[in-house]
Amino acid sequence: MSNIRAAIRGIHAWIPDYKLTNAELETMVETNDEWIVSRTGIKERRILKGEGLGTSDIGVEAVKGLLEKTGMKATEIDFLLCATTTPDMQFPATANIICDKIGAKNAFGFDLNAACSGFIYALTTAAKFIESGTHKKIVVVGADKMSSIIDYTDRRTCIIFGDGGGAVLLEAATDEDGIHDSALYSDGSGRVYLHQKAGGSVRPATAETVAAKEHYVFQDGRPVFKAAVKGMSNAIETVLKNNNLKIEDLNWLVPHQANKRILDSVSSMTGIDPTKVVINIEKYGNTTNGTIPLCLWEWEDKFKKGDKIMLAAFGGGFTWGAVYLTWAY
Ligand code: UT7
Repeated sequence: MSNIRAAIRGIHAWIPDYKLTNAELETMVETNDEWIVSRTGIKERRILKGEGLGTSDIGVEAVKGLLEKTGMKATEIDFLLCATTTPDMQFPATANIICDKIGAKNAFGFDLNAACSGFIYALTTAAKFIESGTHKKIVVVGADKMSSIIDYTDRRTCIIFGDGGGAVLLEAATDEDGIHDSALYSDGSGRVYLHQKAGGSVRPATAETVAAKEHYVFQDGRPVFKAAVKGMSNAIETVLKNNNLKIEDLNWLVPHQANKRILDSVSSMTGIDPTKVVINIEKYGNTTNGTIPLCLWEWEDKFKKGDKIMLAAFGGGFTWGAVYLTWAY
């Protein structure tokens, strides 16, 4: 095994200004603030408004802020990996578009799609490029414009999702802190519960698919809920065990934000002190690949060097997993 470890050297995130509140959703679909808050914990979500704006624009703002914070030039990035489920286009990769817009002329890049687990999959993938010594400065973006695939007449999904994202800089660790371990899983049989019916190669876009609203998120929420609690809890326990850690050794759990009740169930199943669980779902809803970077960004000032942090996610696929790291600055 390589003795180079990858470490997060900086984090920045970006959210659009427009707040879609529960009160506004009440005017759009048959729902109410009490139902949304008690069933999901969400009070508002951000929406990217404006003609011609897509996920790359969220990524660009996040990366620009990251470059400013870390004092790095765009031309120093040698690899940019973008985790997204709502790419600007079917092709080319949103990573390529971000690189072009920020002037990252020396970077290669591609997108990674693992739905809501995309950011932890991407972080683990990028870490391998650092560990192998082939790449020195890698930017991992997790961003989604979920509003582009949400049916705002479907109360089962439109209350959940929002737009936003963030970016981290990965470099070789200079000491023991950084990314230590991960456990990633997938089970494609779960695809029946959470998917977008049309727009891919099986069912390309036609007037019929548009009329049938097949270009939006379809979700059968209950089975996804159950699988998310089990999947995230098991992944966390596996990673703890593999690193000889107990749940009380963790300083923070940074979970994907899909539903406050999922987070409460994962807390009670793993036995973690709920005050250590990072939660901001009330402000942003589920931003898919954006949730974990948005949490890291908001909690950055609270993290101390050496803090033991577990990231965990679950999403469409099904995909799920956990990443263990110690904060490097
Ligand atoms: O991030 C990717 C992974 N995704 C997830 O982890 C999501 C997991 N699932 C969930 O978070 C929850 O299942 C939802 C939030 C999607 C739904 O909550 P639920 O407690 O599972 O509700 P439900 O779908 O079982 O619906 C319960 C009732 C239904 O009415 P009836 O049939 O009991 O009369 C729904 O029609 O609530 C109704 N309902 C609503 N009522 C008011 C569903 N959506 C709404 C709504 N407002 N927005």
